[in-house]
Amino acid sequence: KIIILDFGSQTTQLIGRRVRDLSTYCEIVPYNKFPFEDETVKGVILSGSPFSVNDHDAFKIDLKDIRGKYPVLGICYGAQLMVSESGGEVSQPDSREYGRAHLNIFESNDPLFANLSQNSEVWMSHGDTIVNAPENFTLTASTEDVKWAAYKINGEKTWGVQFHPEVYHTEQGTALLSNFLDICGMKRDWTPASFIESTVRELKEELGDDKVILALSGGVDSSVTAVLLNRAIGKNLTCVFVDHGLLRKNEFETVLDDYEHLGLNVIGVDAKQHFYKELEGVTDPEEKRKIIGKGFIDVFEREAHKLKDIKWLAQGTIYPDIIESLSITGVTIKSHHNVGGLPEKMNLKLCEPLKLLFKDEVRKIGLELGMRPGLIHRHPFPGPGLGIRILGAITPEKVRIAQEADDIFISGLREYGLYDKVWQAGAILLPVQSVGVMGDERTYENTIALRSVTSTDAMTADWSRLPYEFLAKVSNEIINKVQGVNRVVLDISSKPPATIEWE
Ligand code: XMP
Repeated sequence: KIIILDFGSQTTQLIGRRVRDLSTYCEIVPYNKFPFEDETVKGVILSGSPFSVNDHDAFKIDLKDIRGKYPVLGICYGAQLMVSESGGEVSQPDSREYGRAHLNIFESNDPLFANLSQNSEVWMSHGDTIVNAPENFTLTASTEDVKWAAYKINGEKTWGVQFHPEVYHTEQGTALLSNFLDICGMKRDWTPASFIESTVRELKEELGDDKVILALSGGVDSSVTAVLLNRAIGKNLTCVFVDHGLLRKNEFETVLDDYEHLGLNVIGVDAKQHFYKELEGVTDPEEKRKIIGKGFIDVFEREAHKLKDIKWLAQGTIYPDIIESLSITGVTIKSHHNVGGLPEKMNLKLCEPLKLLFKDEVRKIGLELGMRPGLIHRHPFPGPGLGIRILGAITPEKVRIAQEADDIFISGLREYGLYDKVWQAGAILLPVQSVGVMGDERTYENTIALRSVTSTDAMTADWSRLPYEFLAKVSNEIINKVQGVNRVVLDISSKPPATIEWE
């Protein structure tokens, strides 16, 4: 495996994704949590950082433990750190360099640059620059503004690059990382099939004959976790799928059906009335979230107690849930979002077989496990469901309106081949009535807002540019078919400053 030491850069996760895309297993580790005994480690990448190496509280490590022992690639801060720790000079130039630059490679024999063209575009983002490097550092490439854009340390398998090979705009970035993996002797044998095989083997060993419980949400992560566990321990896995009455139209039945086809042992719990009662008259979004979260735990716990000898709680935690770049105050790895502290309360051990995977990898694993592409490529859907898409107090009647409108919108996206082009979409029921006219009648009814966004990680998002013809059809159909709606509007806000959900 490759270790990526995280010094807190926003692009650390991207380095991990690029390495994984090159069929190589890697782990992102806080900068000060390495080295540790692990003979499978074949190389180390040092990430960027929001700090300057000259800051007195900058993250520093003893490079003696790493350099010379493993092939090392320092990126941005990582490259500067090796220079400054060896007695070179790093300082802030008059102008900072951000964005595109042209890289000129002079050491084309350098294995890090094997098969790369001599000139290409790279992406820079740094405040500091390397001014002077010790004698055993060989300059290998420059840009217009930065002399020390890349270097190699003589007599060692150690390299530093000032630019960011992990970002999309660095043209030969993936090729450069691939060269580094070759230098480390990586075989490129980390594939979905190999992951499944080794994980199933490990789960069998770890769980033995123990019984495991898992909460299914209908989403990709928990579904793939369930299928993987089912392959390892079969009927010792019990899944619970709760209908809180705020799912999409027919979702409960469709998804339950899907799960049963996959051979899962699933208990479907219809808890609609319980949730509607708890939510009656509640208008504050955070309070709604809390009630739905707690209701979910109560129902789940009740089901779990009906089962005997459960030892483990399985969860669909994935890598972005547990890694968080270092905060300025020090190393923080986000605590796992346990199902409301259930493992402690019920004295269960946690099983999270996907916790080192990125979302796109989870999807590949799911497909490899034979899951239906429709199940794998579903849009993200929030845990509180339509509860946060019905603004204000929730009633069963409003749920009906939101479900019908949402169904017309989503089915339309599928019909027009747009579903896979957007990140997520849904209908929002606004607490706004307005006047309309239907036949000879004056109406005073509800408003639906259509929300559809493009995104790669939900951190930022832009509103989808949907064709007018499609919007016209959806609007028409909602107003004609959904009783209680006489107006449809389109949300054209990006995130930030708006969020994807309205509550
Ligand atoms: P926002 O609205 O913050 O949403 O732009 C970002 C992503 O998170 C989802 N989301 C939630 N998911 N529980 C969830 O499980 C929640 O309370 C929640 N709120 C928002 C949202 O659908 C989007 O994908």
